[in-house]
Amino acid sequence: MELISRMMDGSIFFRQGGGDLEPVTGSGINQDDKMELLDKVPLFKGCTRRQLRALARITGVFDAPAGKVLTRAGEPGNEFFLIIDGSARVDVSPRKQVRLRAGDFFGEMSLLDGEPRSATVVAETPVRLLFIGRRHFQSLLDDVPGLSQSLLVALSRRVRHAEKALHG
Ligand code: CMP
Repeated sequence: MELISRMMDGSIFFRQGGGDLEPVTGSGINQDDKMELLDKVPLFKGCTRRQLRALARITGVFDAPAGKVLTRAGEPGNEFFLIIDGSARVDVSPRKQVRLRAGDFFGEMSLLDGEPRSATVVAETPVRLLFIGRRHFQSLLDDVPGLSQSLLVALSRRVRHAEKALHG
């Protein structure tokens, strides 16, 4: 019962593979610690304390070691991630990799279009991540001021980079 409620409130991370739910880690972090982390995320800078408190309830935190695969291209994806500490590498193609750092986010594409993960993302260093599950993502878009716009800016930037890589 406790496992289910921790999955529901986002305080435990799980991976869906072959239909199994495999806990990766639970960080034992409390709501105040989460508020402190959320307060530093540039994406949430327009949020009131009340909105941050609501965000803390739907956000999970986990730490992953260097080398950990965080999303795998072609697999279903159900979480949106924000990097709090450390860096991750997006393997966009065999020739193109992009580095993500603290303050960057990933995993939004599968939540927006329902398609499998577009790229494999790997922790380059030990990373601390915030994650928000699919069922809370829509309310996040509705409630966080400027979030949709930030996602559009990031997606436009990715299209430009992809075009440049294709056409020189
Ligand atoms: P998603 O497809 O859900 O999972 C893999 C994530 O990698 C993807 O969402 C984006 O967040 C990220 N990603 C994919 N392509 C790029 C890119 N060209 N630059 C930066 N991040 C990317």
